[in-house]
Amino acid sequence: MLSIVEQDLGTPERTGANSVTLSIDGVEVCVPEGTSVMRAAALAGTKIPKLCATDQLEPFGSCRLCLVQIEGMKGLPASCTTPVAAGMKVTTQNERLAAVRRGVMELYISDHPLDCLTCPANGHCELQDMAGAVGLREVRYGYTGANHLDAGKDTSNPYFTFDPSKCIVCSRCVRACDERQGTLALTIAGRGFDSKVVASQGETFFDSECVSCGACVQACPTATLSENSLIQKGQAEHSVVTTCAYCGVGCSFRAEMQGEQIVRMVPNKDGHANHGHSCVKGRFAIGYATHPDRIVKPMIRAKITDPWREASWDEAIAYAASELRRIQAKYGRNSIGGITSSRCTNEETYLVQKLVRAGFGNNNVDTCARVCHSPTGYGLKNTLGESAGTQNFDSVMQANVIFVIGANPTDGHPVFASQMKRRLRQGAQLIVADPRGIDLVRTPHIEAAHHLKLRPGTNVALLNSLAHVIVTEGLVDEEFVKARCEAAAFDKWRRFVGEAQNSPEAMETVTGVPAASVRAAARLYAGARNGAIYYGLGVTEHSQGSTAVMGIANLAMATGNVGREGVGVNPLRGQNNVQGSCDMGSFPHEFPGYRHVGDETVRASFEHDWGVTLQGDPGLRIPNMFEAALDGEFKGLYVEGEDIAQSDPNTQHVTAALEAMECIIVQDLFLNETARFAHVFLPGSSFLEKDGTFTNAERRISRVRKVMEPKSGQADWQITQLLSNALGLPMNYAHPAEIMAEIARLTPTFTAVSYERIDELGSIQWPCNAAHPTGTPTMHIGEFVRGKGKFLVTEYVPTAEKVTQKYPLLLTTGRILSQYNVGAQTRRTENNLWHGEDRLEIHPHDAEERGIADGDWVGIGSRAGETVLRATVTERMQPGVVYTTFHFPDSGANVITTDNSDWATNCPEYKVTAVQATRVNQPSDWQRRFREFRDTQETLLHGADVFAAK
Ligand code: SF4
Ligand code: SF4
Ligand code: SF4
Ligand code: FES
Repeated sequence: MLSIVEQDLGTPERTGANSVTLSIDGVEVCVPEGTSVMRAAALAGTKIPKLCATDQLEPFGSCRLCLVQIEGMKGLPASCTTPVAAGMKVTTQNERLAAVRRGVMELYISDHPLDCLTCPANGHCELQDMAGAVGLREVRYGYTGANHLDAGKDTSNPYFTFDPSKCIVCSRCVRACDERQGTLALTIAGRGFDSKVVASQGETFFDSECVSCGACVQACPTATLSENSLIQKGQAEHSVVTTCAYCGVGCSFRAEMQGEQIVRMVPNKDGHANHGHSCVKGRFAIGYATHPDRIVKPMIRAKITDPWREASWDEAIAYAASELRRIQAKYGRNSIGGITSSRCTNEETYLVQKLVRAGFGNNNVDTCARVCHSPTGYGLKNTLGESAGTQNFDSVMQANVIFVIGANPTDGHPVFASQMKRRLRQGAQLIVADPRGIDLVRTPHIEAAHHLKLRPGTNVALLNSLAHVIVTEGLVDEEFVKARCEAAAFDKWRRFVGEAQNSPEAMETVTGVPAASVRAAARLYAGARNGAIYYGLGVTEHSQGSTAVMGIANLAMATGNVGREGVGVNPLRGQNNVQGSCDMGSFPHEFPGYRHVGDETVRASFEHDWGVTLQGDPGLRIPNMFEAALDGEFKGLYVEGEDIAQSDPNTQHVTAALEAMECIIVQDLFLNETARFAHVFLPGSSFLEKDGTFTNAERRISRVRKVMEPKSGQADWQITQLLSNALGLPMNYAHPAEIMAEIARLTPTFTAVSYERIDELGSIQWPCNAAHPTGTPTMHIGEFVRGKGKFLVTEYVPTAEKVTQKYPLLLTTGRILSQYNVGAQTRRTENNLWHGEDRLEIHPHDAEERGIADGDWVGIGSRAGETVLRATVTERMQPGVVYTTFHFPDSGANVITTDNSDWATNCPEYKVTAVQATRVNQPSDWQRRFREFRDTQETLLHGADVFAAK
């Protein structure tokens, strides 16, 4: 628990190598060169009054409240904009300074509504504090002059209110939007008395370019910009530091609380992944956690056509266990399995895989990473030796060339995108490879040097042609390769990519990217002092996803861009704990720490610790579970925190497999699409209701801390424990810290990880062990984890999914800032105001050919199925390619996606589906069936008193 108000040192930290010693009010202070006088004073314990300065933003020097006297200097310089100098003698308090500051405050207060007692900022208003700090007792100008007290409020944003009558025009909001967020939505319009904050061209916040990150609200020293929740609820009385449960950035927040009620989420300045910034989801979209749709009591039923019946925890767990044992007795040990969650904590995920391996007695455990980043694990393990990204986020600030391929950071990883944009505004160059014109290609003050607008499904061809340029134009970092990589493998790869068939010219007809652009991009990346690659699901979710990951690793090794800051291979992980769920042994072939179940020594260590005999053969992957279910061999499934019926490809195939099972146990917050096929529902807990850890895309392990009791009475780790005990595998953890102790005991890359260590360091990037007691921000320094880096030949094999006369367009999918994956959380928040439906984006040319206008209903058919969405006609798309998001269940985006998958990992090929689009005026047959089934399932809930509140 921390104090509510974080210390603000006034100006940002400077990390210059040299130190400077000065005297402030007679006290000697030693600070890094470049530090402001204000910050030096704050570090010495002296608070200089301030309004326009904050340590989250560059100093601006507009309010003139922070004036100081400096020996030998004329006038009264602003301490926020004056850097320290050796031997400087600063006076922060005397009569003259006090008089000037009081004068400044008088002017502010004469144009300010004096409603402090009823103001939402009462208690944390910096203007109020400063009035006190300067000893303001009277306002000589009175309150009746020209003022802004009648300025109307802007309440357009669902999460915060703009009340310009309280604005002191300090510009902190404008600078926060520029510097922190990089959206540049705000300006100060007008001059002098008329100056005021405006969004975009004088629009409301909602209609402007604002992306609701809340940085301006956080920066505002008054109540001008205030969270609506704060206005409604008032001040918090305690706060708890925890980690966002949305995306793989893993932002740290202080949950400001009144008892068990959240007042607001404030990004933690000490957060190592976010440094005090956030996006609209983590800061504002938390209403789902207390939404009345939440089911908080266990339920059971014998058949999915039966009504749900509320059950006690004892009854539900006993029923689930007896069904699993019955199925195994009838169909064999391998007839059941489990799916772990990338939303749940490491400890919870670890327990589920332990339950499957040791309790079910097989290795039929998988996770949703199967459908997103499993190729990352495979590709990076085989080339670099470790199944994880190589850097921390801060590394991007040292990159000179940033190559983003198959990722849309401003929507998918917004806080990291803001950091990346900051680096780009500092002058780093950008290469984007994406079929679609993502926002990053052109945003304020940023323009990609190259946008390689490739055709979906041709990543490997593009990567090979980039590599071709590098090896044939003498751009290889020979010294690095010689010292760090396997020579024979490199020679083989060099010969392969050097072949004429891999040249940009030869590949142009395949990728659709002009050869000259590929050559220029390759030269830019290879010639960079520090070249960093960031990639996402646009790389992995392909039939050659693993090949593309290896191709990326090859490029980085060939150019010497691994093993130091500013470079590397950086997978942007989608969900909050997708890295952690992989680390924790969620895959059927691997124990925690990516060790094969066939390794006898490793297996023996788990057998010894768990006191059971374990199987040495890999179990079923998710798609294999579906196949086995349809073959009548797989009959029982325990699903923790995943909605496979919505998120997995070829929905009709998935739901047929679910219908073929005899017992599906769903542990979740809501009756999701998978739960409609379930026989046991175990009410899960949100991230606010439990202790544990998440591991973000940087391998950073951060604490999740309980801020309220679980609504169902049990945290997810406790539910798994109950089920395990009922199945006869004893689990008696009193706290998740004990689970982490077991993980550390059994996992070489985690041996020094503990809750105490995380609390001490704030967060830890694994490996964290005797060799790296404080963690590993940058991997592969000096040597690759596997010893020598291994180049692998990456032959381009076109996907079997080809456009035909019947299906002439390629559909690719992605996500949007305001929604999150299957939408179960964000759809239950006001984020729907920004994105209330999935739309089909289509190029004007393709739309015109089909008579489709913006907003029309469009039927999209593939060989897997058909659905109907409304069209957005946009030049973002290239002709021949259409795009949709997949956040709403009845959009049925995955009704269309096929069961093609990555050759190595079975990661589905979500990003390439051949489709036809036609104008229609009614829902698809699937949508009609879906809605009927959903309505029926809703009626089967009637009478069950299982909701959080109605
Ligand atoms: S809205 Fe707040 S931060 Fe922005 S200028 Fe006004 S007082 Fe300053
Ligand atoms: S909420 Fe974020 S994007 Fe919107 S104006 Fe404020 S800082 Fe800019
Ligand atoms: S960037 Fe990701 S982790 Fe950070 S607040 Fe947004 S959703 Fe949460
Ligand atoms: S705080 Fe220094 S001028 Fe405003």
